[in-house]
Amino acid sequence: MTHHSDKKLGQATHVNGSPASSDRNSLTVGSNGPIVLHDHHLVDTLAHFNREKTVERQPHAKGSGAFGVFETTHDVSAYTKAALFQQGVQTEMLARFSTVAGEQGSPDTWRDVRGFSLKFYTTEGNYDLVGNNTPVFFVRDPMKFPHFIRSQKRLPDSGLRDNHMQWDFWTTHPETAHQVTYLMGPRGLPKSWRHMNGYGSHTYMWVNAKGERFWVKYHFHSCQGEENYSNAEATEMSGKDADSHRRDLFEAIQRGDYPSWLLSVQIMPYEEARSYRFNPFDLTKTWSHKDYPLIPVGRMTLNRNPENFFAQIEQAAFSPSNLVPGIGLSPDKMLLGRVFAYPDAQRRRIGTNFHQLPVNQPKVPTNTYLFDGNMNYQHSGNQPTYLSDTAGRPYADHTGPIEDGWESDGDLVRQAYSLYPEDDDFGQAGTLLREVFNDEERTQFVETIVGAIQGVRSPVLERVFEYWKNVDQEVGQRIEEAYQKSPRAVK
Ligand code: HEM
Repeated sequence: MTHHSDKKLGQATHVNGSPASSDRNSLTVGSNGPIVLHDHHLVDTLAHFNREKTVERQPHAKGSGAFGVFETTHDVSAYTKAALFQQGVQTEMLARFSTVAGEQGSPDTWRDVRGFSLKFYTTEGNYDLVGNNTPVFFVRDPMKFPHFIRSQKRLPDSGLRDNHMQWDFWTTHPETAHQVTYLMGPRGLPKSWRHMNGYGSHTYMWVNAKGERFWVKYHFHSCQGEENYSNAEATEMSGKDADSHRRDLFEAIQRGDYPSWLLSVQIMPYEEARSYRFNPFDLTKTWSHKDYPLIPVGRMTLNRNPENFFAQIEQAAFSPSNLVPGIGLSPDKMLLGRVFAYPDAQRRRIGTNFHQLPVNQPKVPTNTYLFDGNMNYQHSGNQPTYLSDTAGRPYADHTGPIEDGWESDGDLVRQAYSLYPEDDDFGQAGTLLREVFNDEERTQFVETIVGAIQGVRSPVLERVFEYWKNVDQEVGQRIEEAYQKSPRAVK
């Protein structure tokens, strides 16, 4: 067997390639006698089976994906020199969609944020954009991320998910209001992955060929249109087919109905970040489209299913640290935290040399100073393993400012971001409720919240009403009243 997909498998073999004598009968002393320890084929079969599952991703465990192509249809060379974003360039890619809180077997249709992970196999190395189907996030400091995720997962004693715990976290961290409004609103229950948009969410940096820097936000709009389930439809589907989103994507691609998304970006000139109304690096905020209109870039089309779910989707490793020239990070503290977190998770989840697996390997040659470790497959022969000016192995040696950097100064502190003129926790959430949702959607929103707070106890319950009144006095009032009338309300 090769490590490539090989549909024409010959004779069954042992792991060393020698012919296997039987995959049906173990080696015994007579037909009824004991099994012998030197039946290494049985030992391999049982021992390998015991190790077949790897640990699931800590967040975003349930998901699936497909391969495809990204084509840059517009000229954005004024903003970035990245090879994949030059007009006319087509780049092979992989996408993985997921839910955040559920485990591997959990229903695709529970209300949750959806992951929108992309890996572009570019001519300058792999570029990953690991985003969500929402343009904002719950918190703005990476220190809070594990606490947030645990509050959405399971209780220590019963192992149950728990509304009380979720709302305890959300109401203690009011910066969550914008994302929770989004999540509980009309776009919180996508009908399928094909029918949702994707966002890079963070602010990233683009650098053009002249070395000019821009801040950028990515928006992927579904060409299938945005469609969402009602609460009742999603609940029904969760019971009927827990894998409905995974199935939908696989079957659509199988029948040649390739889903696509149009990428556009918001671009902020480098200097304007200092004086914008909101902190442009705060992940709980969006940039107004009036201030920074969408600029079209290209189209992503998914056209090839995985041949092997485990090898190509489960072992896929996406990370915001996979960047290419012309694309950089930003002072968003969450983003900076993520750059550490993903490869670290993957070294543990998949193994030290996860980047060498075919799905994670770049299409360009690599020359790193990372050596050995478990399951090392690619090696550099007897090339030197240290920086040497005599042995002839190239090493990098840039000195001075980096092209995708920014300036920074001050004391080392543990403190929230300093506030921009219009920064607060509730403002943009209120705008979303009042100006983006229509009357019917607001009514549905109130109903969804009332459903989601069943089981929440005092004092968290009072904080929930306060939280929504801070977002919008009237909607908060309606939630409180509707809750008091709901059948399971805690009196
Ligand atoms: C400081 C904040 C965050 C930390 C520490 C964090 C950490 C992680 C970790 C450890 C994984 C599992 C990676 C793996 O095992 O391969 C993961 C998965 C994921 N995260 Fe985050 N995350 C953070 C915030 C975010 C944000 C803001 C987004 C979206 C904008 C996001 C989107 C995703 C997605 C889509 C996946 C699944 C990746 C895949 O498809 O394999 N995360 N996160």
